[in-house]
Amino acid sequence: MKNLIIIDHPLLKRDLTLIRDKKTPSNIFRAVLRRTASLMAYEVTRDLVVRRISITTPLEKTIGHKVVHPIILVPILRAGLGLVGGFVEVLPDARVGHIGLYRDEDTLKPVDYYAKFPKKLGEAFIFVLDPMLATGGSATAAVTFLKQKGAKKIRFVSLVAAPEGIRLLSRNHPDVKIYTCAVDRRLDSRGYILPGLGDAGDRIFGTAE
Ligand code: PRP
Ligand code: URA
Repeated sequence: MKNLIIIDHPLLKRDLTLIRDKKTPSNIFRAVLRRTASLMAYEVTRDLVVRRISITTPLEKTIGHKVVHPIILVPILRAGLGLVGGFVEVLPDARVGHIGLYRDEDTLKPVDYYAKFPKKLGEAFIFVLDPMLATGGSATAAVTFLKQKGAKKIRFVSLVAAPEGIRLLSRNHPDVKIYTCAVDRRLDSRGYILPGLGDAGDRIFGTAE
């Protein structure tokens, strides 16, 4: 699939193993997810356009570089919040919007409850962050909403994706590049990714206990 980019890196494989392991407690899960996000941020920003600028070192004039487009991160609440810290570490100038969606447990359809975005969405490079791409309903709804608000250059960043979700998001938004560290086997009858990592929000925030 042309718009799917699988980020294949030994350090991400190592971290994803820790994240998947059910024995990993919330505090470690959060810390590793944050580190993973920083590693992913390198890959998903690889082709950003830079402009040459003139600077002076303590010794002489030279050429430096500046990223051309403003960057906006949009985590899908709740679990997307787990990726923000790691992204901001390497993109300190990024602005952050939020979109609140949860899946109805019976229909698996996304229910929206919050949205707040920075201005000038149309000029920015937008990274929608959510560790899980399962049915693809939440990702599709988030991207549709952002486009309605004027966003044009959108990328979707997930940690684990199911084939079902990749298909739905690609069908509805073929212009959106999908980044993930792993394409898992399939969804189970409750819409959970197999093998997956369980409920990402619960594992980040400790709400299953
Ligand atoms: C999870 C996850 C995604 C969504 C993916 O959120 O963080 O947003 O499910 O599923 P989908 O691709 O089938 O839409 P959830 O709905 O559990 O909400 P939460 O993060 O608040 O727990
Ligand atoms: N949401 C999650 O948090 N995990 C899944 O496996 C599917 C949806």
